[in-house]
Amino acid sequence: MNINSRLTEWHPEMTSWRRELHAHPQTAFEETFASELIASKLQAWGIETHRGLAKTGVVGVIRGKQTGNARLRNIGLRADIDALDIEEQNDVPHRSQNPGKMHACGHDGHTTMLLGAARYLAESRNVAGTVNVIFQPAEENEGGGRVMVEEGLFNKFPCDAVFGMHNWPGMPVGHFGVCSGPIMAAFDVFEIIVRGYGTHAAMPHLGIDPIVTAAQIVTALQTIASRNTNPLDQLVVSVTQIHGGDTWNVIPTEVKLRGTVRTFRLETQDMAESHMRRIVSGIATSLGASAELHYDRRYPATVNTPQEAEWAAEAAADVVGQPQLDTNVLPCMGGEDFSFMLLECPGSYIWAGNGPSDNGRVLHNPRYDFNDDLLPIGASYWVRLVERLLGS
Ligand code: NI
Repeated sequence: MNINSRLTEWHPEMTSWRRELHAHPQTAFEETFASELIASKLQAWGIETHRGLAKTGVVGVIRGKQTGNARLRNIGLRADIDALDIEEQNDVPHRSQNPGKMHACGHDGHTTMLLGAARYLAESRNVAGTVNVIFQPAEENEGGGRVMVEEGLFNKFPCDAVFGMHNWPGMPVGHFGVCSGPIMAAFDVFEIIVRGYGTHAAMPHLGIDPIVTAAQIVTALQTIASRNTNPLDQLVVSVTQIHGGDTWNVIPTEVKLRGTVRTFRLETQDMAESHMRRIVSGIATSLGASAELHYDRRYPATVNTPQEAEWAAEAAADVVGQPQLDTNVLPCMGGEDFSFMLLECPGSYIWAGNGPSDNGRVLHNPRYDFNDDLLPIGASYWVRLVERLLGS
């Protein structure tokens, strides 16, 4: 492996930042601890630092000292900084000090890898262009990436390309995975309110049963994936909640269903929503009930542009060697709000192996912990990517 020697030197220090961040997790737009830590380090390293974008977001601007013709002039490197509403079950010295909050997705590691790279780039400034290091809040659920874009991220900090990285449990440390095209899915949520007519459970003929109606809706929704979607395309429709009824002998008035839809293509997303509307209203009407559908598109699909995916792959191969790089990973149906940045700017999102996924070491598990062995590898990837794209 070809790890940057300064980053190897800084590995113990980076490990301590990562663990400090891990011990102080905060969620959506409240990441004041991380924001403060990031800004103070960037400033200490002489990096022009901008705060306040999407509340707790931080952007550092590192201008290279070289002149000449690089492939690009300005690039963005993005790390997410937020934690999750999970009670940590690890018994380690750096365990979460904030009850009910935890870095269970490794964003503490993402922040640290980008900090390490920023420090190196500020020290060397050995490129002919500008690197914007983007520390983004609220990746989980609240779309901090969208808020940063709406608040003018790319107007204030123009980027010819933007890049993201996520640790990947189950992939060995020292391996990377990337692909051209969709890598993470669009994430939609829905709520269906089925209204019937409440009555005595022993006299169902006097009412309209929303439970029977809801059950048929749940079953029929499975046909969106099995009968309406091209078998070579991908779609998931999952009903994840059913709420209705309070006792044995009453048919309730109302049942609520909730769930999520995942897709990779806008046409498939549109198709899923319109079929869901047809199924929900058609089944409710046919059984004499009525139904309301609230369909909310949360994150679009994360779609890597071909050229940028190739550049990301080349940089990763420089660090870990071609055999440890998979350039054709199977995309994941999870959502990612880096997608909002990719709607505005070409770019690529890469996975970096976090090691075995046993003993709870999977994303969003209360026993997950970012693998510190990955720190200098991920940071070296960032540096190599910058050198390849902005090197003269
Ligand atoms: Ni994550």
